[in-house]
Amino acid sequence: MWERYAPRMAPILFTRGAPSLDIIDQEGLREAAQQAFTKDPAGTFAYGTSVGYVPLREWIAEQHGVEVDQVLVTNGSMQADAFLFELLVNPGDDVVVEAPTYDRTLLNLRQRGAKVAAIDLETDGIDTAKLEAYLEGARPSLAHIIPNFQNPAGYTLSTEKRAKLLQLAAEKDFVLFEDDPYLKVRFEGEQLPTMLSQDTSGKVVYASSFSKTMCPGIRCGYLVGSKDIIGRIQKIATNTYISPNMVAQSIVNEFCRSGRIEQSVATVKKALKERKDALVTALQRELPDAVYTAPQGGYFMWVELPGVSVEKLFPVAKEHGVEFVKGSDFMLEGGDSAMRLAFSGVNVEQIDEGITRLAAAVRAL
Ligand SMILES: Cc1ncc(COP(=O)(O)O)c(C=O)c1O
Repeated sequence: MWERYAPRMAPILFTRGAPSLDIIDQEGLREAAQQAFTKDPAGTFAYGTSVGYVPLREWIAEQHGVEVDQVLVTNGSMQADAFLFELLVNPGDDVVVEAPTYDRTLLNLRQRGAKVAAIDLETDGIDTAKLEAYLEGARPSLAHIIPNFQNPAGYTLSTEKRAKLLQLAAEKDFVLFEDDPYLKVRFEGEQLPTMLSQDTSGKVVYASSFSKTMCPGIRCGYLVGSKDIIGRIQKIATNTYISPNMVAQSIVNEFCRSGRIEQSVATVKKALKERKDALVTALQRELPDAVYTAPQGGYFMWVELPGVSVEKLFPVAKEHGVEFVKGSDFMLEGGDSAMRLAFSGVNVEQIDEGITRLAAAVRAL
């Protein structure tokens, strides 16, 4: 098998949750940078403030229909997550995550010494009956939920479950952390209202990012929450870095306000849909026993290969020139026959070839 693939061994990577370069609006970003540097050099090149570049903060507040002092703009939403965890999660605290969930969230929470309760994720979101049962005996400080095109599963939280989570957060008094970087990259179906927009108890803290709509290298994300929580995080932000990257945020501001972001999102969505379709077609042809729910947006698909040890498959797949992330990396336990396939960074031809290689690796086991 190896010999067959050896001459064109460039590995095909389903590993990275990042866009390929061809779907990043490089020209638009150059123009936005030019505009930012020309129009507001004072704001762009100064330290600025710990809440972020003021015009961008205002734009985000308008988008979400909240007051400006409910918003804090950060260096990527990972930074937003880290600030929120620093504020709310102490060693020994109970926290809820989805199982599976974003591996970096798991890592961060465990490094903070939290007692992580991983509640099963279903194709329509977290199992709220199991969450409710868990809440009978625990008082978590926070529940981390990725509502749209979840990382790693690609599933979306239903309207009913959004309402249930809001009810539980209000009743049981925990922060509902809505981690939503994929909202805008829906390529099929109707967008569902955020939990933030339906929150009447002030329990939701919302995070999002420009990584998926613009480019990840710009490292710009944000938090929206109650003025109290945002005010307390502002203090942590000041002590951490004085202020986030004003140059990046000023460019993002121009990109958004010029409307260029709409074009960028359209390009990304079109490519993601084509890639998702190519992935499904290749899986149907090459691995008909694979189990998955095709996502309506985002970057990821969770694929189970019943009866296959993904631990064993992983090195063999690598030898065959294809890489993925093991399902077990996103869970405290289990996920042994599952993998996450990211289709954001590979084109249609690579997807077809990558799944052909993956099937060859499965046969070689
Ligand atoms: C659920 C989730 N949250 C946060 C992030 C981090 O995004 P950012 O690039 O804004 O730090 C990602 C990135 O993949 C993600 O999938």
